[in-house]
Amino acid sequence: MTKAVVLTEFGDPGVLHTAEVPLPDPGPGQVRVAVRAAGVNALDAKIRSGAMRQVFPVTFPHVPGLEAAGVVEALGEGVEGLDVGEEVFGWTVTGSYAEQAIADAARLTIKPDTVDWQQAVALPVAAETAYRAFDLLGVRPGETLLVHAAAGAVGGIAVQIAVARGLTVIGTASPANHDYLRSLGAVPVAYGEGLADRVRAVAPGGVDAALDGAGRGGSVAASVELTGGAERVVAITDPAGAAEHGVRYTSDTDGRGGEAAIEEALALIAAGKLAPRVHAAYPLADAAQAHRVSESGHVTGKLVLTVA
Ligand SMILES: NC(=O)c1ccc[n+]([C@@H]2O[C@H](COP(=O)([O-])OP(=O)(O)OC[C@H]3O[C@@H](n4cnc5c(N)ncnc54)[C@H](OP(=O)(O)O)[C@@H]3O)[C@@H](O)[C@H]2O)c1
Repeated sequence: MTKAVVLTEFGDPGVLHTAEVPLPDPGPGQVRVAVRAAGVNALDAKIRSGAMRQVFPVTFPHVPGLEAAGVVEALGEGVEGLDVGEEVFGWTVTGSYAEQAIADAARLTIKPDTVDWQQAVALPVAAETAYRAFDLLGVRPGETLLVHAAAGAVGGIAVQIAVARGLTVIGTASPANHDYLRSLGAVPVAYGEGLADRVRAVAPGGVDAALDGAGRGGSVAASVELTGGAERVVAITDPAGAAEHGVRYTSDTDGRGGEAAIEEALALIAAGKLAPRVHAAYPLADAAQAHRVSESGHVTGKLVLTVA
């Protein structure tokens, strides 16, 4: 048996509890990872509440969590290129809010010694999402990109990747996060009424493309207005709101890819151009508190669960 955070019904964060669950065995092409850090994504709370039950149906008991960093402790049949004892990070097949989780070997990357567990687990979902959105947007060096929710887990990584790619980045956040956005190389703008005018004031040459990680406060409409159409706007949240404005919504539904995004992120970290920020880390037993903070909507960087 192994310890995990378990969901046996939909509800508020209080429905998350720790329990002993069967120790999973790795299948062909899979490994078992002793988890050191698990990423908490905004999606996890939406799944927990039941709000996403149509799109992401779950079977109870459900162990949440999409990504982990940890140590390989068992190899399934046919795994090549990974050994027991190696430090890895990436996507998991079983829930990552657990002391042990199963992952496809192909979806794990060796963790460099210079990147700690919490920084590593801040990368998979955020870097892959930014990479995928930038691909869809066709962003090019020299362009101006607007990133909504720029101080969040995805936004902070997206801003740094875009800056490193040679874009001018305008990021929306509350004033408390403006110094943080400046430290990432972005021009901060407060969200809320008058957003489009404030963006215009700092972007005399206009905005070429927009990544919407906010999905509220008129972010989609402002993006369409500022870029001059829906073509170069991509939303990663609120698909219905995006559709209303003819804006593309993207989601990692095929569960593949990500290798190129991780490669780019690690290269940027090595070059001193990307530093994943962790908002807070909690032990597994405090997963409910991590979800409360996530649902506050004001996380700066990544929320992480740790296993001692
Ligand atoms: N489709 C996909 O593939 C995909 C992948 C990953 C995430 N997502 C979704 O994308 C969204 C962002 O993810 P995340 O992990 O970055 O979330 P997050 O870390 O929880 O985002 C928190 C950030 O949102 C900012 N924020 C709150 N209200 C805002 C507003 N009205 N305008 C602009 N920013 C605002 C906050 O800034 P302040 O604290 O300064 O207010 C905070 O920094 C979530 O809805 C998530 O589910 C989608």
